[in-house]
Amino acid sequence: MSQGFRVAVAGATGAVGREILKTLAERQFPVSEVVALASGRSAGQPVSFGDKTVLTVRNLETFDFAGFDIGLFSPGAAVSAIHAPRAAAAGCIVIDNTSHFRMEPDVPLVVPEVNPQALARHTRRRIIANPNCSTIQMVVALKPLHDRFRVKRVVVSTYQSVSGAGKEGMDELFTSTKAFFVNDPVKPQIFTKNIAYNCIPHIDKFLDDGSTKEEWKMAVETRKILDPDIAVFATCVRVPVFIGHAEAVSVEFEHPVNLGEARDLLRNFPGVVVIDGHDDGGYITPADCQGEDAVYVSRIRRDPTVPNGLGFWCVSDNLRKGAALNAVQIAESLITQNLLQKAA
Ligand SMILES: NC(=O)c1ccc[n+]([C@@H]2O[C@H](COP(=O)([O-])OP(=O)(O)OC[C@H]3O[C@@H](n4cnc5c(N)ncnc54)[C@H](OP(=O)(O)O)[C@@H]3O)[C@@H](O)[C@H]2O)c1
Repeated sequence: MSQGFRVAVAGATGAVGREILKTLAERQFPVSEVVALASGRSAGQPVSFGDKTVLTVRNLETFDFAGFDIGLFSPGAAVSAIHAPRAAAAGCIVIDNTSHFRMEPDVPLVVPEVNPQALARHTRRRIIANPNCSTIQMVVALKPLHDRFRVKRVVVSTYQSVSGAGKEGMDELFTSTKAFFVNDPVKPQIFTKNIAYNCIPHIDKFLDDGSTKEEWKMAVETRKILDPDIAVFATCVRVPVFIGHAEAVSVEFEHPVNLGEARDLLRNFPGVVVIDGHDDGGYITPADCQGEDAVYVSRIRRDPTVPNGLGFWCVSDNLRKGAALNAVQIAESLITQNLLQKAA
């Protein structure tokens, strides 16, 4: 490992943590040392960092962050709540994938293509939050349209893969699909109903108004990242797909929308790929986007039911842009904005 930053990955044995290690290696993030951290249950186990390096997992609970520059965290909200401030106090800048810090006013919530300027506000807490996976892909697609036509209201339905619920979510789709074929009883544990051959309109807990916390997150995070005046009505649904979230998005703009211009704005925006053929297969599905970095936009069309309305279909790999890639891009943006100094 060459000259560079000392990086700690917390949650390194999980779906997001493994993808973070892969992304750091693929993008040749400048590291001088990488450590993999997880619970005491996994301490001593091997995890891959790129094709050639195998790291031995260490226990987050007892790890000393002194001298580490960056902490990329995904060990779950309750664990980040304890160990992210501990890492920050030791001098590390923490980029946290969990929901724990996202709405705290002095913690920037960042998607580098959308609001990189917010990173400068990390200095008080030394913690930066990565948004929810469903929010990230939607705000990337909305940003170029908002800058030109001003988004007033968004109605979105999501089709979220089981990897959004971590490695145990993926295991449950696998075992319940297998159980279906051999006529075994299905016992849902991670999901609230059988996920095989089903769709479940319930992600995270219910709130008093009948919406779920996942739906609330999409609304409040979009406002924090993009514009506090945008109204968002979300319905979040878990579907039996391993990787990749899809979203049907309807947007009402303040100004009249020119369809051709909207397409061009999306095509030219960093991180967005438009695949929009009006023929069989001329659109992206979750299975097409696995392992890819982009936010794909398809099915762009006028919504004639509201003034200045536009609809589209948006798909991205929730473990890449929805989590690991966005976190690593935040670290890269800290470097390019000169906001990351090496620890002494
Ligand atoms: N999956 C997604 O698409 C996605 C997207 C954005 C954000 N997130 C968020 O990222 C977090 C992790 O998600 P995931 O999908 O990677 O979950 P996961 O596959 O279940 O992995 C959880 C990770 O956290 C570690 N962990 C659990 N308890 C711990 C403890 N007490 N101390 C230290 N490490 C502990 C686990 O280590 P062990 O193996 O040792 O148990 C594992 O490495 C969640 O907060 C999730 O909401 C997920």
